[in-house]
Amino acid sequence: MRKQIVAGNWKMNNDLAMTESLITELKKHVKISDADMMIAPAFTNLWHAFEALRHSDIEVVAQNMHFAESGAYTGEISAGMLKSVGIQTVILGHSERRAYFNETDDLLAQKVNTALKNNMRVIFCFGEELADRKSNNHEMVVENQIKKALFHLNSDAFNSLILAYEPVWAIGTGETASPEQAQDMHAFIRETLANKYGQNLADSVSILYGGSVKPNNAREIFSKPDVDGGLIGGAALKAEDFMAIVNAF
Ligand code: G3P
Repeated sequence: MRKQIVAGNWKMNNDLAMTESLITELKKHVKISDADMMIAPAFTNLWHAFEALRHSDIEVVAQNMHFAESGAYTGEISAGMLKSVGIQTVILGHSERRAYFNETDDLLAQKVNTALKNNMRVIFCFGEELADRKSNNHEMVVENQIKKALFHLNSDAFNSLILAYEPVWAIGTGETASPEQAQDMHAFIRETLANKYGQNLADSVSILYGGSVKPNNAREIFSKPDVDGGLIGGAALKAEDFMAIVNAF
């Protein structure tokens, strides 16, 4: 049985005081679903968040990391640094990293390799642009993203991978993919995995949906057979909304 997961990607939001406040609010809510719950604060707040949530059922994850173990990469963060502050899971390949920092599939393959080499778990993001969907190329685009960044891996590596399908046109826009669109793409992703690695592996990998998930649409999206939860942006910044999504199974 693959895991149900809801992860909050805080992006470049919340200073230390706001991080403390949001964590305090989150702790006031009860998780009634069986979903694994994660939050991804900014780098500067990771240690404090990890300490504050050390004895909770909320995992603290990082939003990115560099492919090198160390070196002359001003402003970057390594896997070892993340692990030194308790972080075991990292988001890689987010569309904003691809768009604003020119992170290519090849670079992301290197980052995935480094994370796995450091025994970290990866939430690997991918998704098509609006133009790709309008031209009905969305499946080809997603297939290429997955194959270029992940298909060099052996089967065992997928024990440490969580996939996150985030159609770029749905991120931060309020234009959520319909539950049917999400299910269709998740089923295609699982079929793509099965063709390469077999059905057992494909059925074991959690595939999250991201892109304007809100309390009023989460339950229908999460009810789809190939949707295993969500990667949440804006709604993760409000404790009540995020917990409503966590409990929407
Ligand atoms: O990583 C999750 C994020 O890209 C989704 O953002 O605001 O559309 O939920 P949002």
